[in-house]
Amino acid sequence: MFDIFKLEIMRFGINGVSAVNQSAHNYGLRRLFIKQLREMIWAERAFTKTIPKIVDNIASPNLIAILKDHAQTTSQQIKRLESGFELIGVSTRGKKCIVLEALIKECKNTLKHTEHGPVRDAAIIAVVQKIEHYAMAAYGTLTFFGKALGENALADALNQILIEEKEADAFLSEAAYKTINFDAAFDEKKFLASHYYRGNTPKF
Ligand SMILES: [Fe+2]
Repeated sequence: MFDIFKLEIMRFGINGVSAVNQSAHNYGLRRLFIKQLREMIWAERAFTKTIPKIVDNIASPNLIAILKDHAQTTSQQIKRLESGFELIGVSTRGKKCIVLEALIKECKNTLKHTEHGPVRDAAIIAVVQKIEHYAMAAYGTLTFFGKALGENALADALNQILIEEKEADAFLSEAAYKTINFDAAFDEKKFLASHYYRGNTPKF
């Protein structure tokens, strides 16, 4: 009896994760899928906590609106991920995503090294777009993993999140290209001019 139970665990594992060849150093595709999903839910939760702090430091009303809107979308995405986890019988506990952790640090450093205004806004767009591009790569991969594993409902939810990340990225590119980068370049000239007239030579 014990042996049959053990055999079932070997075949199907816990939560349907095959235990065959899945030691700590040898992941099967399902385990890899779940690990990466847990990193993404951690990433989204960390990012929702960061967005309000970023928004407080932005000058452009358009960029504030884009990020506030994306904060709402991200909250919905977290709920969608949680439902998806329940669908495949996995706990909604996240796993630290070191990439997002580093990018959030970069975001905070950006605020330290810039003043309120268009240059800071341009720098914020740059780092938020790095976050969005990371998310786009991750959700693209996860959608295909989900499909390969036959988790079609979850794969559809992941694809929907991918579409939303692409939309947010496009809005950020538009804001940067149409106004903020040019305002930042103009601001830079004012900065250089003010140093020149004060007899200072800016140091780079
Ligand atoms: Fe996002």
